Amino acid sequence: MAVRPTAEPIAVRRLTVSDFRSYAAAAVDVDPRPVVLTGPNGAGKTNLLEAVSMLTPGSGLRRARMDELTRRGAIRWAVAARVEHAGGLTAIGTGLAGEPGSEKRTARIDGETVGPMRLGDVMSVSWLTPQMDRLFLDGASVRRRFMDRLILGFDPEHGPRANRYERAMRERLKLLKDGRRDPEWLNALEAQMVENGIAIAAARRAWKIRTARALEAGTGPFPAADLALEGTLEEGLDRGSAVEVEDGFAEALAAGRELDAQAGRTLAGPHRSDLLVRHRAKDAPAEQCSTGEQKALLIALILADARMQARERGQTPVLLLDEVAAHLDADRRAALYDEICGLGAQAWLTGTEPHLFEALGGRAQRFEVRESELAAAGN
Ligand SMILES: Nc1ncnc2c1ncn2[C@@H]1O[C@H](COP(=O)(O)OP(=O)(O)O)[C@@H](O)[C@H]1O
Ligand SMILES: [Mg+2]
Repeated sequence: MAVRPTAEPIAVRRLTVSDFRSYAAAAVDVDPRPVVLTGPNGAGKTNLLEAVSMLTPGSGLRRARMDELTRRGAIRWAVAARVEHAGGLTAIGTGLAGEPGSEKRTARIDGETVGPMRLGDVMSVSWLTPQMDRLFLDGASVRRRFMDRLILGFDPEHGPRANRYERAMRERLKLLKDGRRDPEWLNALEAQMVENGIAIAAARRAWKIRTARALEAGTGPFPAADLALEGTLEEGLDRGSAVEVEDGFAEALAAGRELDAQAGRTLAGPHRSDLLVRHRAKDAPAEQCSTGEQKALLIALILADARMQARERGQTPVLLLDEVAAHLDADRRAALYDEICGLGAQAWLTGTEPHLFEALGGRAQRFEVRESELAAAGN
């Protein structure tokens, strides 16, 4: 493998939003340091983080429908940014376009219209939000989505791959439910599921191994954690060759047609996998840890992923840490800030109280958000 230069943190330099959530129009210039946003509840802090999250493929940190993002009473939203990354300075943007009633999400990179997936070539963002406090308690799909999003920052092909897999899976299930057992058609769809399914499992496995290594390399005051993947394909790849796992999955799909038709869903495949996290010192699964310990585990994971991306992709993702500071004691907070600054990451941090961010000192830039207006605060 080629030796990479020191990682370049990705940094938003100018963010512009229009008719996005509570914002009619706003523009803010920022430097590569962490960005602290303080203000009362409902001021528009999370909306701004959400705007940054829309600069990547997918539906952002609230998993919103594209029309929900449009400011009430307005026609269509847009978010644009100048982004500094290893490739230089790039102008990117995204938003709704098209005739009212049939708008679609579009994206632009340096003025050229591209599919939103391509935003991942420029931007990589990971986030931690209060909604994720239940990550270890809810069903496997939540953890799978969390992991797949992180992988997307590492490997932009992970998204299209998952889309192809899901499309083939839906089509196959429809045929089965309609009782249309055209074997050639089914074989072709199952072949697509196998090809993309194995690639998905392999990407997850590679991510897990690398992130586990990054966790091993140091978590500061955040708990050491062990990761495991639960899933036939992922576990199969631990034991045997990709070809064996492919054959096994193809056979399972062919043999499972009847049962899948009866169940009305596809019973086997990487769409059912789970990410298992254990708190090493407690020797307990994450779901049995206290709320605070679960939060600390999530922070450890996000930071490990960022370190891993920095080392292996040569770029440090932008971090969106919504209301994270309030849940940490002063020592952990200071350690989180040291970690962020050590990574050189542009972390966007929110909180209601400015004092939560005192330990950042001159290492961050601060804004006060009030009624969806931003004002520089004591920089
Ligand atoms: N589509 C929308 N149009 C107008 N306002 C919206 C829209 N979506 C959310 N809001 C408003 O944004 C405000 C919440 O902003 P948010 O960024 O979550 O606040 P906080 O500063 O607490 O993080 C709420 O008052 C909400 O009503
Ligand atoms: Mg908020």
